[in-house]
Amino acid sequence: MHPALIRLEKTFSPSILSRIDDPLLDRHRIELWLKRDDLLHPVISGNKWRKLKYCLDHVLTLGSGTVISMGGAYSNHLHALAFTGKVLGLKTVGLVRGERPEPLTPTLQDCLRWGMELRFVSRSEYRLLRHYREHDALPGIRPGEYWLPEGGAHALALAGIQEGLDEIDLSYDMLCLPCGTGTTLAGCVGAAAEGASVIGFAAVKNAVYLTDEVEKLLPRPYTHWTVNHDYHFGGFARTTPELNQFIHEFELKHKIGLEPVYSGKMIYALYDLIAKNRFKPGLRMIALHTGGLQGNRGFTRRPFS
Ligand SMILES: Cc1ncc(COP(=O)(O)O)c(C=O)c1O
Repeated sequence: MHPALIRLEKTFSPSILSRIDDPLLDRHRIELWLKRDDLLHPVISGNKWRKLKYCLDHVLTLGSGTVISMGGAYSNHLHALAFTGKVLGLKTVGLVRGERPEPLTPTLQDCLRWGMELRFVSRSEYRLLRHYREHDALPGIRPGEYWLPEGGAHALALAGIQEGLDEIDLSYDMLCLPCGTGTTLAGCVGAAAEGASVIGFAAVKNAVYLTDEVEKLLPRPYTHWTVNHDYHFGGFARTTPELNQFIHEFELKHKIGLEPVYSGKMIYALYDLIAKNRFKPGLRMIALHTGGLQGNRGFTRRPFS
C-alpha cells in the first residue's frame, strides 16, 4: 500500500457495529446490526473509501498524476474522489452527467473547491462512457491520466470492500447492502462470512444489468446472493413521502443519519420484509451503512445531522 494512503487511512475513525433496537425486530426475532461505514470519515465515508482505496493505490503505483471519472451532479463518488485527490496531490477531472446546473449543486461546489475540473457531458455521451472499464480505456486518454469508471466500478475495488467486511467481529446469517453499479455487492459476495447469504437492494429502477455486472467482477460464480428490485421508490434518487417519513422516524429514534438514495431505501426494505415475515425468526442480519449523507443536500427534507 502506498505510504500516502496509509497516512490518510490513519486519520479515519473506526467503523462500529450498531445494534438496532426496535419492537418490530423483537416481535419477529430478528437481530439487525448496522455496519457504520458512514462514520469512517466526514467526506470519504461509507463504501467510497472501500472502493477507492486500491484503485488509488494503483494510480499512485503507476505514477499517474490525474484521475478522470464520471458521476451525476450529486455524486458521492466524485465528491469523495475530489477530496481524496486533493489530499493525495492528484489532479482530478469529473465528467458530469447533463447540463451544468445553475447554481452548481453543493456537491459540485465542493468538488470545485477541492480542485476537481468539471466537464459536463450530454446524457447520451455519459451512457457511452459506461463502456470504458479499464484504466487506460477512455478514448483520447493521455499518458499520466487514469480512467476510473462510474462509481469506482473496478475489480480493484473488491479488496477494499473485503477489508471492511473483515472488520465484522460477529457471526451473521445475512448481509444486506444497497446497490448502484453492483461493485460493493460483488465485493460482499466474494467476502461474506461462510454460510451467510447476501442481498443487494437496487437503488435504480429496472436494474437488470446488476446481476451481470456483479458476475463480471467476480473471479468465479457464487450462489449465495440475490438482488431485490422492489424498493427503488420510482427510480434512482426518487423518493416518496412515505420513504421520507420512514427515514425521519428512524433517524429520530436511532440517532443514525440516513439518505433516501441508498441506505434509507435499504432499511425501509428490511423493515417491510421483516413485517411481512419474509425472514426466518432467529436470523442475525448485518446491513452496511454505505454513507453518502452529503447527498441529502439534494433533497428538501430536513437532514438529521
Ligand atoms: C452511499 C452509496 N451507497 C451505495 C452505493 C452503491 O454502491 P455500488 O455502486 O458499488 O453498487 C453508492 C454508489 O456508489 C453510494 O454512493
